[in-house]
Amino acid sequence: MERAVRHLQCSERHARGKTGDSFRFAGVGAGVGGLAMRVWWRDGVIYQVYPRSFQDSNGDGAGDLNGILSRLDYLVSLGVDAVWISPIYPSPMADFGYDVAHYTGVDPLFGTIDDFDALLAGVHARGLKLILDFVPNHTSDQHPRFLESRSARDNPKRDWYLWRAAAADGGPPNNWMSNFGGSAWTWDEVTQQYYYHSFLKEQPDLNWRNPEVKAAAFDAMRFWLDKGVDGFRMDVLWLLIKDDQFRSNPPNPEYRGGNSFWSVLPKYTADQPETHAIVREMRALLDSYGDRVLIGEIYLPVADLVKYYGDTPHLAGAQMPFNFHLILNAWDAGSIAELIRTYESALPPGAWPNWVLGNHDQHRLATRIGAAQARVAAVLLLTLRGTPTLYYGDELGMPDARIAPGDVQDPAEKNQPGFGLGRDPERSPMLWENRENAGFTLSGVKTWLPLAWDWPQYTVETQHADPRSMLALYRALLKLRRSSSALVGGSVEDVRGADGALSYLRAQAGERVQMHLNLTGEVRWVETLTGMVLLSSYLDGEGFEIGGWVKLRAGEGIVVKVF
Ligand code: NOJ
Repeated sequence: MERAVRHLQCSERHARGKTGDSFRFAGVGAGVGGLAMRVWWRDGVIYQVYPRSFQDSNGDGAGDLNGILSRLDYLVSLGVDAVWISPIYPSPMADFGYDVAHYTGVDPLFGTIDDFDALLAGVHARGLKLILDFVPNHTSDQHPRFLESRSARDNPKRDWYLWRAAAADGGPPNNWMSNFGGSAWTWDEVTQQYYYHSFLKEQPDLNWRNPEVKAAAFDAMRFWLDKGVDGFRMDVLWLLIKDDQFRSNPPNPEYRGGNSFWSVLPKYTADQPETHAIVREMRALLDSYGDRVLIGEIYLPVADLVKYYGDTPHLAGAQMPFNFHLILNAWDAGSIAELIRTYESALPPGAWPNWVLGNHDQHRLATRIGAAQARVAAVLLLTLRGTPTLYYGDELGMPDARIAPGDVQDPAEKNQPGFGLGRDPERSPMLWENRENAGFTLSGVKTWLPLAWDWPQYTVETQHADPRSMLALYRALLKLRRSSSALVGGSVEDVRGADGALSYLRAQAGERVQMHLNLTGEVRWVETLTGMVLLSSYLDGEGFEIGGWVKLRAGEGIVVKVF
């Protein structure tokens, strides 16, 4: 079964970056303790909420906006700075909201537009930021524009989507594949043509070469920006444009079964050069509103990913092309050290890095690498140079939920069962209190997905009472990060990974902090600069001096303030 690497992901062999002592990448100026201005998306920490699964306020078994509002104080106490919520727009929910039927409303499942306004006000009142998920690449097949488009070949909206004649044999026009399996072309009986969909047939792709499509999307973005949202996470940003000659993709020589999407290489359906001009226009729109952020969901090798920052010196693309490489990479000290060096070396001058360890499309961190290593991963994510994005529940060490065949919801699993492609396991309800349904919804209500197995050990309530819990570790790390200008904005230097141990130094304005992480289940010895231990992932001691060769316990990560 494929575990870590699933749909939308790229394979990559990292080019060798600079190594050893000479490796150093400078920060761009931190807001903590320094003179430089604070930039919220650069200096802060982002927390992803999957709205269906965070908190149910009305007893229907699915989370909603009022639920999120009621839990904002938890996010403040955790110590994060911004909340990104997955789509909340009216939707038939074929892909749980990533099939949008109306871009400027709220689905009744999640509440009303007034509830949204209240949430936004609640977020801002607490000094947090709110990032919306925006889905530019495709709509729902129930979107009025698609209904028009499919009504007749001469409908003015026909060209808003990608329609093609059948091939000579009556089959699809080319071999383009859907991310959710099978051909990406669906035949329309009424107008006798095929339409293209990168995902489900209920998610037809928009034609971003048509200026009216872009204008409509930008209008929808303005609607939310006018309300005061602080930015967008753009869904599948690298897929917006497809080859204008509709050439077939080359076969993938490494395909050995599994998701049929990978039977061909997405040469003509992904990362087309024209995409960058659109990204620049999106960024210009956000910039016209001031302090807003453009985040791109982009699964590409590092060298192609970093092009989404835009060209030097203006970097007028996305401020944060999401970097998923810690998810894609083997959990191995040597190759993570190489990844850090490769990524940092590839960043254009002035670009700010970012790191992600989990999201609603990937198996849970604790399931991928185990509970012990998930603690080390927390230290890594929150001490690397770059903006971290946390996935809800990872701060509790929540594992994947076990989904019985009758409980499967995700079309990725339903369309291609048995390959482990389903994303329900990582979308199970947040675990709050030690009562029925973990406080996610009312007693007696069936939750839309089952809770994680053996869930009482993971709840906020259980972990709040335990000074060494995963939650305590996240809180301590977030507090430490906030208090250290080296951790927020400092350079990263001296990145080493060998024999299961990963070390790196962060430095800014005379403050130096060195991290040592044991990525194995056995003892490891590492050589540290002399300093004081600020934190161990075991949370059983701090404030003592160390230097020279020191022993790291199994799965231990330490943060050392260098003298
Ligand atoms: C990426 C989203 O993260 C995923 O959940 C969704 O299924 C696809 N885009 C299609 O919108």
